Amino acid sequence: MKQIESVLLLVLSCCFSSCSIDEVPAYLDAGLPVERRVDDLMKRMTVEEKIGQMCQYVGLQHIIETERQHNGSGMVNQDAYAFYPGLSVSDIESLVSEGKIGSFLHVFSSSEAEHLQSLAKKSRLKIPLLIGIDAIHGNGMVSGCTVYPSQLGQSCIWDTGPVELAARYTAEEMRATGTQWAFSPNLDIARDARWGRTGETFGEDPFLVSEMGQAMIRGLQGTDLKNGVLACAKHLVGGSEPVNGLNVAPTDISRRTLMEIYLPPYRSAVEAGVMTFMPAHNEINGIPCHSAGHLMTDLVRDRWGFKGFYVSDFLDIERLAEVHRVAENQKEAVFQTVEAGMDMHMHGPGFFEPLMELVDDGRISMNRIDESVRRILTAKFLLGLFDAESADTSVLSSEVFSPAHKELALDMARKSIVLLKNMERTLPLDTRRYKRILVTGPDADSQAILGDWSLLQPEDNVTTIIEGIKETAPDGAVVDFFDMGTSIPGMNIHDVEKAAELARKYDLVVLCLGENSLRYVGPDQTAGENVDRDDISLPGLQQHLLEAVCDTGVPVVCVMVNARPLDVSYMKEHAHAILEAWEPGSFGGRAIGEILWGEVNPSGKLTVSFPRNVGQIPVYYNRKPSQYVRRYFNSPSGAIYHFGEGLSYTSYSYSAPVADKSVVNPGETVTISVNVSNVGEVAGDEIVQMYINTPVCRVARPILSLKGFERVTLSPGQTKTVTFVLGPDEMKTLDENLEEGIDKGIFTVFVGASSKPDDLQSVTFEVF
Ligand code: BGC
Repeated sequence: MKQIESVLLLVLSCCFSSCSIDEVPAYLDAGLPVERRVDDLMKRMTVEEKIGQMCQYVGLQHIIETERQHNGSGMVNQDAYAFYPGLSVSDIESLVSEGKIGSFLHVFSSSEAEHLQSLAKKSRLKIPLLIGIDAIHGNGMVSGCTVYPSQLGQSCIWDTGPVELAARYTAEEMRATGTQWAFSPNLDIARDARWGRTGETFGEDPFLVSEMGQAMIRGLQGTDLKNGVLACAKHLVGGSEPVNGLNVAPTDISRRTLMEIYLPPYRSAVEAGVMTFMPAHNEINGIPCHSAGHLMTDLVRDRWGFKGFYVSDFLDIERLAEVHRVAENQKEAVFQTVEAGMDMHMHGPGFFEPLMELVDDGRISMNRIDESVRRILTAKFLLGLFDAESADTSVLSSEVFSPAHKELALDMARKSIVLLKNMERTLPLDTRRYKRILVTGPDADSQAILGDWSLLQPEDNVTTIIEGIKETAPDGAVVDFFDMGTSIPGMNIHDVEKAAELARKYDLVVLCLGENSLRYVGPDQTAGENVDRDDISLPGLQQHLLEAVCDTGVPVVCVMVNARPLDVSYMKEHAHAILEAWEPGSFGGRAIGEILWGEVNPSGKLTVSFPRNVGQIPVYYNRKPSQYVRRYFNSPSGAIYHFGEGLSYTSYSYSAPVADKSVVNPGETVTISVNVSNVGEVAGDEIVQMYINTPVCRVARPILSLKGFERVTLSPGQTKTVTFVLGPDEMKTLDENLEEGIDKGIFTVFVGASSKPDDLQSVTFEVF
C-alpha cells in the first residue's frame, strides 16, 4: 500500500517539477528557514527516498581496501574493516545516485567525499550526503591531519579550554577533507582497565567527563553548524564496564550507579545541544542498548529533551538477532530498534529492505519514518550541505595540519603528560649528572603515540619519542638509541638481553614502554577497540626488559605510552622516574623530550586510578565507605596511583579552604576559596581540585565526589586565590527512591592537589 502511495507521490512530484521548471524548489532556497525547507523537501520525497536517508554505508576506498586485505573472505571480526559481500562498489554508487543512501562513514579523502557528493547530486532530489568519521582526538583517520592527545590524555590537562579548541580545529580539518560528522565525544566512564577502549574515554569521574564532553561538543559544533560538524555522544550506556572486561559483553549496573555515575555525561551532552547520539554495543541489565526505548526515547529524548538523531553503532542492529538474540531475525531487529527510537542504521544493507517491508506491513508508521527523516534532514540543512558554497572543500585545505593546529597539539601534549615518580630528582635530566643516556623500548620510535582512531601518519608529521628527545637535547648531551623495533608482541629475548648489556655502559636509561592501540597495525595492536586483556601487565617481553635493565643498577626513567592504567607496581619500586605520557599525539615525542630535559615543567594529573593488579579491578576514587573495610591478605588494597595525582618540578602549598557561609538554605550557593602558592624554584601549572562528601544519610554515598577543578599558572613565589561555587547542582543527590534532592545536614568540602587523603584539607557548611 505504502509503495503505491509512494509511486503516486513520485508521479505528482515529477509533474510538479516539470510544471515549474524554472522555479527553484523551496528547499533549495538558502534564504528560507530550515523548518520550511525540510517541510518542502519532505513533501517531495518517496518512501524509498525517505528510508534511504536513514541508511549509512562505509566509504568506497574502505571497502576496496578491506576486500584487498581480506580476499573477500567475509566480514572481518575486527570492526575496523568492513565490506558488503555481494555488493560491488558500482552497486553502491548506483544506490547513491538513486537516493537510497543518505550517509557514509570512513571516507578517508576529500576526493572520495567529492566523488560521493557528485553521485548524490545526480539523484532525483539532489540531497547531499552526510559523511561521518571517527575524529576522536583530531581527524586522525585521514592522512596528513593533526592528531591531538587521546581523550584520556586530554582529560589529564584538567582544562576544558584546549579540549574545546582542539575540537574546533578538528572540525576545520574535517570540513577541509569533506566530512561533517564526528563520532565523538566518547562519554564512557572508565572503570575497568581490561577494556581496550579505556584510552578513548575522559577517565573515571562523571563530573570531569561531563565537563570535557561538553567542551568537545561546543568545539565540534561551534555556534553555527555551517562552520562546524555534528558531534555524537557515545556510547549510551555502560559499555565500559562489561562483566568480564570484554567489549560488547553484557553490563549489569544498578539503576543508582547508572544514574549517579554513567548517565550524567550524556545528560550534559544534551544540555550542550549535541546533535547526535550512538547507543552502545552491550545489553544493559538485560536490554540491548539498541532496542532500549526506555533509554533512547523515554529518558534521553522525552525527559532530557534531546532534539537530534540516533545512529546505530557498527552492526549493532544486526547483533540484536545474531548476538543478543532478542529478535528472531533482521526484520524484527530493525523493528525493535526503530520502535525504540533509532534514526539511522550505521552501515550497509540489511536495513532498507526490512524497513520498507515494516512500513508496508503497517508495523512502522510513516509518521515514525518522517520523524527520523526530519531530524536527519534538519541536520543536513543546518550544516549548510544543500547550499553550494559550503560544499567546496578545496578552499579550506590550508587548514589541515596548520601551524596553529600543530602548536595546539604540542601544547596539549605538554600539559597532558603526568609525572608519577621522580626519585632523587632524577628529572629533569642534567647532562653533568647523566653524561651518556641510552633510549630504548618498543614505543621509542613508534607511532603508537598517536593512539587509536588514527592511521599511520606521514613520518614527517609525527615526532616519535627518540626524535623528540634528540631534537630537544641540550648541547653536549649524549643520547644513543637501541632500536628493538615497534612490535610489542614481536619483541625478542635477544634484544632484551642486548639492551640490558648495553645499559651498563650508560649513566641512565630511558625505557619507552606500554602499548600500541593503532588499529591498522594488525597483530601488533595491544589496546584499543576489541583489544581487551585479562591482565594489565606490560604486554610482550616488556616486564623482562624493565627488570633486566633495572637489575644493572643504572638509573631507569620509564616513559609510558598506553591506553589504560597498567600494572606498574614493580616499576614504582625500581624505576627512578615514571612519566605517564598516555597517547600524546603528533608531537608527543617532542613534548616528552621537553619534559625530560626540563624545558617544560610537567603538570598533568591522572583522571583514572591505577589498580595494583588486575584482580583489584574495579578501583576508583569515588568508592563507597565500606569498600576497603576488609583487606586482601596478600597485598595492599586501593590504587597504586590515585585519581588527581601528578608531580611537578616545583612544589605547591595550599592554605586551609574557607567557605563564605557556614549555614545555607537548600538552593543557595556557597563559595569556597583557597590560596595556592608556588613554593619551589620554577614556574608551573597546578591543578586545584574540589571534592565534596555529603552528610550521613540512609543511602551510602561515595567518600568523595569531584565538583570543581582549576588549572592555575604560578611563577616561583606567586600565590593565587582559587574560588569554587557550590550550588544546588553540585549538592543534589539521589535519595532512597532515586529522587533528586538536597540533603539537610553537614557537607564537607575537600580542596587540594589530588584525591589522596594526605593531599586534601577540608571545610564544612550546613544545609539547614
Ligand atoms: C565503534 C564506534 C565507532 C564506529 C564507527 C564502532 O565499532 O564502537 O565508536 O564510532 O565503530 O567506526
